[in-house]
Amino acid sequence: MSPRGRTAAASEDPQWRKLPLDNLTLTKKEGFGSFAEAPAAAHPEAHTRAQLKGLGEQALACYNDDRNRWHANMKPVRTKEVDLLHEHLNEIFNASLRQGRQQAKSAAAIDAFPGLGKTTAALAFAKDVHNRLIAKDGRFTAAGHERWPVCRVGMTGDTRMKDFNWALLEFFAHAGRNSGTANMFAYQALDCVTSCETKLIIVDDLQFLHFQSKSGTELSNHFKFIANEFPVMLLFIGHDLRGKGLYLDHQLERRVTPLGLEPFRIEDEQGRLQWRSLLLALEQRLVRAEKYPGMLADDLFARTTGHIGSLMTLLMRACERAIRTGEERVTRELLSRIRLDAAAERLRAEWEVALQSGTKTSRPARLKGTAT
Ligand SMILES: Nc1ncnc2c1ncn2[C@@H]1O[C@H](COP(=O)(O)OP(=O)(O)OP(=O)(O)O)[C@@H](O)[C@H]1O
Ligand SMILES: [Mg+2]
Repeated sequence: MSPRGRTAAASEDPQWRKLPLDNLTLTKKEGFGSFAEAPAAAHPEAHTRAQLKGLGEQALACYNDDRNRWHANMKPVRTKEVDLLHEHLNEIFNASLRQGRQQAKSAAAIDAFPGLGKTTAALAFAKDVHNRLIAKDGRFTAAGHERWPVCRVGMTGDTRMKDFNWALLEFFAHAGRNSGTANMFAYQALDCVTSCETKLIIVDDLQFLHFQSKSGTELSNHFKFIANEFPVMLLFIGHDLRGKGLYLDHQLERRVTPLGLEPFRIEDEQGRLQWRSLLLALEQRLVRAEKYPGMLADDLFARTTGHIGSLMTLLMRACERAIRTGEERVTRELLSRIRLDAAAERLRAEWEVALQSGTKTSRPARLKGTAT
């Protein structure tokens, strides 16, 4: 059977799905596979107050549970910032796919403040790469190995080179990960990456690494080794990576393309329109018996200062409260009772004054004068 014939047949039979292995976390290939291939969740149907009253106690509890789960796990919104980021990532990734083995591969780093959606955007990209390459090349390689286009590793406080390589081996469930030297782990990891035809390695929370420390220098040299020897694109994610010293190494500085994500801003009309269109997109997704006519754009901006992480948390908590109390409406008063992260709460009062006094507005000019 030709390799192509073999991969086509194998792709209909994803054995790993049937194995009783971890499919919950992204630190292992099975978990990543479940995440990447999960079907889109069904949007719970909206019920009127009368329909809610007609549900029995148990049916209502199940329906409310479905709605709360939906709000807590909404699929990422394709904002302009995320689209732009994906465009850059695709360019870098597609070029790295075409580079010859002897060429050092490109790398990128998403460097932005916490809660702006770095991990979410990178995982959406990774999911796309996983599904795209499996659809194109099959679930198994020509040599008969499982194909894993993406590998993801999360850094912790004191990740050293050996720990990093161990995490790569853990992702692939390599049998040799229980003992060996750092170099042995590195070569075993290289073997996994080449056998599984991995094309993208994501290193999340890289801000934990202090590049000027001994282990930091060791690991940044190791990243260069990966770029030289592994046929993959490296994607670093973190906050203040420049400040932490990622680019102090001149070779890495020449290889890594810095990318970012910004909070929503309302200083100009374009920013206000983007904020408004995000709220409209989210409003479509929230499942309550009573919708407000247009989301409370100013209130939501004052509470979140345009940070998508805080916004999603606020909406999730507000909907949970509206459902639990039977209010079924996310009102100004309900929003004001929800507590948020420390950074959002710190900036809240200042922004409430600016927005209420009219010094600032989050409403686009064409909507001024209409009710929100
Ligand atoms: N595009 C998006 N659409 C919907 N929700 C999003 C989007 N981006 C981020 N979120 C929500 O914001 C929260 C924070 O996002 P994420 O964890 O990706 O941020 P981060 O920049 O990686 O933060 P950290 O630096 O703390 O790791 C997530 O829980 C996610 O639900
Ligand atoms: Mg993150």
